[in-house]
Amino acid sequence: MKAILHAKNVNKIYGTKGNQYKALENIDLEIKEGEFIGIMGPSGAGKSTLLNILSTIDTPTSGEITIAEQNIVTMKEEQLSDFRRNKLGFIFQDYNLLDTLTVRENILLPLALSKVPAKEIQNRVEKIADTFGIREILDKYPYHISGGQKQRTAASRAIVTNPSLILADEPTGALDSKSATDLLESLTALNEQNHSTIMMVTHDAFAASFCKRILFIKDGRIYAEIHKLQQSRQEFFQKILDVLASLGGDNK
Ligand SMILES: Nc1ncnc2c1ncn2[C@@H]1O[C@H](COP(=O)(O)OP(=O)(O)O)[C@@H](O)[C@H]1O
Ligand SMILES: [Mg+2]
Repeated sequence: MKAILHAKNVNKIYGTKGNQYKALENIDLEIKEGEFIGIMGPSGAGKSTLLNILSTIDTPTSGEITIAEQNIVTMKEEQLSDFRRNKLGFIFQDYNLLDTLTVRENILLPLALSKVPAKEIQNRVEKIADTFGIREILDKYPYHISGGQKQRTAASRAIVTNPSLILADEPTGALDSKSATDLLESLTALNEQNHSTIMMVTHDAFAASFCKRILFIKDGRIYAEIHKLQQSRQEFFQKILDVLASLGGDNK
């Protein structure tokens, strides 16, 4: 499988001279097409900083990053907004749905902005709604659906454009355990059936156990990496807990 993301020697320093803080140090990372990768680590480790840089929301102080063969570090703001819309899908903890639009309209919004034909929009929305189990609520408004359904709507919107890379920051953070499991199973289906590439930041070992590979970050550096091989999810979950214990910190 070819790599969808290359990051080389990425550094991020916050603050100004005399009052500097190194949030990321010499991060090297490669994500291959079809991976489901998790990022874990204690509070303040640099997880969100890394995600924000890879999602082009923030810029690194130094280092090289290419995503889908494009150099995102040197890209101009105008190109970046097209790049984000066409190549990336975002899933955040707070769903960011538009309350005046139905679930269906929320999901198809990115396609409408890209002027995709109506028939094609219809097909894609229904296919994704099936993957996430929300076909029955397509014509409801956000205030009539549950938190779990909102998050699955937000996830559907994030992937409706077939992004090269899906980025999720604590997507299960606001969900009860049943809704979290539903979302994680949908993301797994998306990864396995659609070969979508997913990177998920989480402090939750249960959520992380759905990933195929996990990077642990501590003090802005990659501390450990584990792969789910032939293990069951339960075995992988145990392994994650072991690494977290060796990491120390509160893992939030
Ligand atoms: N805009 C900023 N200015 C200064 N320091 C920041 C900024 N954003 C994050 N930091 C610091 O960088 C470190 C990493 O933060 P963050 O990436 O949010 O960690 P995590 O998501 O792993 O909890 C923390 O010590 C945080 O205080
Ligand atoms: Mg964070």
